[in-house]
Amino acid sequence: MSQFWKPGTERPRPCLVDDEEGGVLFYSTPPPSSSYGYASLEKQRQRLPVFKYRTAILYLVEYHSTVIIVGETGSGKTTQIPQYLKEAGWAEGGRLIACTQPRRLAVQSVASRVAEEMGVKIGEEVGYTIRFEDKTVQGVTKIKFLTDGVLLREMMDDPLLTKYSVIMVDEAHERSISTDMLLGLLKKVQRRRPELRLIISSATIEAESMSNFFRTRKKNDGHATDDNNLKMEPSILSVEGKGYPVEIHYVQEPVSNYLQSAVDTVLLIHEKETVGDVLVFLTGQEEIDAAVQLLVEKASDKTSHFSGLLVLPLYSGLSRSDQDLIFSQTPKGKRKVVISTNIAETSLTLEGVVYVVDSGFSKQRFYNPISDIENLVVAPISKASAKQRAGRAGRLRAGKCFRLYTEDYFVKEMPAEGIPEMQRSNLVSSVIQLKALGIDNILGFDWLASPPPEAMIRALEVLYSLGILDEDAKLTTPSGFQVAEIPLDPMVSKMIIAADTLGCSEEILTIAAVLSVQSIWVSARGKHKGLDEVKLRFAAAEGDHVTHLNVYKGFLQSGKSSQWCYKNYINYHAMKKVVDTREQLCRLVRRLGIVLKSCQGDTQTIRKAILAGFFSHASQLEEYSQNGMYKTVRNSQEVYIHPSSVLFRVNPKWVVYHSLVSTDKHYMHNVIAIDPSWLIEAAPHFYQLKRPNPAIF
Ligand code: CDP
Ligand code: MG
Repeated sequence: MSQFWKPGTERPRPCLVDDEEGGVLFYSTPPPSSSYGYASLEKQRQRLPVFKYRTAILYLVEYHSTVIIVGETGSGKTTQIPQYLKEAGWAEGGRLIACTQPRRLAVQSVASRVAEEMGVKIGEEVGYTIRFEDKTVQGVTKIKFLTDGVLLREMMDDPLLTKYSVIMVDEAHERSISTDMLLGLLKKVQRRRPELRLIISSATIEAESMSNFFRTRKKNDGHATDDNNLKMEPSILSVEGKGYPVEIHYVQEPVSNYLQSAVDTVLLIHEKETVGDVLVFLTGQEEIDAAVQLLVEKASDKTSHFSGLLVLPLYSGLSRSDQDLIFSQTPKGKRKVVISTNIAETSLTLEGVVYVVDSGFSKQRFYNPISDIENLVVAPISKASAKQRAGRAGRLRAGKCFRLYTEDYFVKEMPAEGIPEMQRSNLVSSVIQLKALGIDNILGFDWLASPPPEAMIRALEVLYSLGILDEDAKLTTPSGFQVAEIPLDPMVSKMIIAADTLGCSEEILTIAAVLSVQSIWVSARGKHKGLDEVKLRFAAAEGDHVTHLNVYKGFLQSGKSSQWCYKNYINYHAMKKVVDTREQLCRLVRRLGIVLKSCQGDTQTIRKAILAGFFSHASQLEEYSQNGMYKTVRNSQEVYIHPSSVLFRVNPKWVVYHSLVSTDKHYMHNVIAIDPSWLIEAAPHFYQLKRPNPAIF
């Protein structure tokens, strides 16, 4: 059981999250509506801190091309500002107000909240667009929530984003790769469209650097004003409100298992603390499901007082009904415990939370351009994140935050800020998008934070080898432009385009759709045996991609039955998403002139199409390897087939993998067996030179 400093004792003092001086941090958020019972939605809106700034915001947007708004999470930035803009007439004359979010789930959730507040049906006046899902109606939708990635895509058809009057780039402090790209591009757009208004909203005070970014403009458009006295100089507005103190507690000794500690801490809170919901920050779906299960077991004992716990998971990919539960009011006599990824850190506000349990970790993307491995790894969060997480406890009344790390660690070791995603990602998709937008000098692009040159060079190499860029680093016609149009990893897009030529687009689109969901199998924890047996029913000797086709076929034959999924350890929601995504992809590729055709299960053709995109992901089994060690052809890296693959222990001599994931070893995920001669056929430019270690060019 974790040991916490007890409140009121000598050590440790509740700590000022801000400056570690000791004391209590006051968060600038007002009491939420639920503490007053059922206030009308209109009343709730007026109680939000941002309401007092309504006139100021509208004034600034009128007279400044860029407004930076900083305000604590929950102050009403996301849900209110777009409505103010609409009320002030920014959506008149067929124009649109956009509000971007880095996360899909946040897009859906805030859009439905705003629709509810406005008393309209979602998808009409208030709509949203995420990849593979468009709930807007042209000419009807006035406020549109969308992911930053989707807005970037829209620029390909309409580089100046002419249908928007105001674009609010929300959650800018998260510094997602798409947000960073978008900010650089929007700055360019404003040079051509000075009337376009930008609102950049953020939960933390990075406003100065953001403001400097928009202040430094190329000559001639520095402080220009047009006829309406529109100032190009950005303005900054801070939304303040009254707040509640949050008491910080640290563990005395580092914990060895934060998942178990988190569970224990929730139980401890339930035993010792007064009413109030609990929000727990863990890192990913599998971990969250495990913690939920542990707590649900406790809660299911009707005789124990833990039966008062209502335990809910929160991560992207959650079904709509599960999302609704999260936001609904906690029933009387119950204590809601939401176990979340860092989506609840700033993107979503949960009412009623009084206690926060912070594991100190989140899943973060890291990319190594040398090994070309991009991983989602569990990594320590920054002080800025820790502060945000703690703040979630102070909305209703004075709250408490239990940190599952020591104060010493927090003060001395935790980094102050996170690293922008741009600087720790594979840049292939970003480069292709910029190229498609006509930005040729990518290194000279006006980045908010420059990406590492190695990653940039690697991305150019990959795109060149795929035939997407030519010698002059320009998009090739037609395949480069086609690939850029498909909102998937360029290797997957290349595979789809090759399938058109090879006559297996039906199959390849299914494979692409499956690869776009996290996993079609139910989470394996504790069910390995059953899952392995079931997988054999679908397993194809050719490998995972072909196995996916079998699962998809089975799902369709079952009439898309959830029962069938349950019996076969298949994730029903994932399969529904696969079906939806596939439909969207079919529509999209038809627009690109690709004809849908089936090869009637000719697995050799299917594998050749996969190779057209993934030839650089080939590896060869080490000749005398006892433990299934492979070496990648590109750089002789030691890799292994992941145990979740149907080819695990089968170990064909030559394979091609979809992705590499490193845990204790480098594992190949989603693997197919190939004939090495196909490699030369698929990519003579890549494989003809030096053997056995072919050069890239
Ligand atoms: O964007 P910001 O963090 O400043 O706040 P917001 O997301 O606009 O949230 C303002 C208020 O709306 C909060 O009190 C939320 O709890 C509430 N809200 C809600 O009840 N349900 C949602 N799906 C979204 C927001
Ligand atoms: Mg927000």
